[in-house]
Amino acid sequence: MKLNIAIDGPSGAGKSTISDILAERLEYVHLDTGAMYRSVAYTATQKGLQMDEEDKIVKMIEEEMDLKMNSDGTIICNGEDISNKIRTNEMSMAASNVSKLKGVRTALVAMQQKIASEGGYIVDGRDICEVVLPNAEVKIFLTASAEDRARRRLAQNQEKGISGTYEEILEDIKKRDYQDSHRENSPLRQTEDAVAIDSSNMSIVEVVDEIMKLVAEKQK
Ligand code: DC
Repeated sequence: MKLNIAIDGPSGAGKSTISDILAERLEYVHLDTGAMYRSVAYTATQKGLQMDEEDKIVKMIEEEMDLKMNSDGTIICNGEDISNKIRTNEMSMAASNVSKLKGVRTALVAMQQKIASEGGYIVDGRDICEVVLPNAEVKIFLTASAEDRARRRLAQNQEKGISGTYEEILEDIKKRDYQDSHRENSPLRQTEDAVAIDSSNMSIVEVVDEIMKLVAEKQK
């Protein structure tokens, strides 16, 4: 039986890496919802829109965005490969800003629910347990200290050739944590039915194994 696995948590807790490994082990598909908010922010920026122009951005999503989230992790928007372009610090903050807008959330949540409707998805984000997949069989709230997350993000960025110092990344993480958990619409918070995992002192494999155990229990 294919389940749905919902993983929420702050930026840099390892959600994407862990979801990718789980997807491979379980032969499920990873849906990175953060990449969807990032793609909206990137496309809006390209069109010269400000991140608070809600009506124009919602119209853009509905009428002018052909977004393909490929299973190999590449993201193609209107024929352009934007996989790396959406990962800059600037786009992180723009995505956090655009994700505050109710209309944007409504449009993206509907797309995410449609994609995951048949099961077999690992969906990661901020509002997955509460809003996108309230009936997901496995729910995880993945955290780590801001310092650990900044260190990991720096290593990832260096691998991808994205510039920025540790201090800049830490400041960005703290700012986004605050913004993502204090916004009016679907703030990041742990639901009662989610299992909390603090990955600060855990390896990626340990986190994956813990989630695999929860999946196995549900599959019994
Ligand atoms: O996971 P990420 O860092 O790629 O997400 C980028 C931003 O998008 C993040 O700051 C908050 C927002 N986001 C959201 O509001 N809801 C989601 N389900 C996923 C991301």
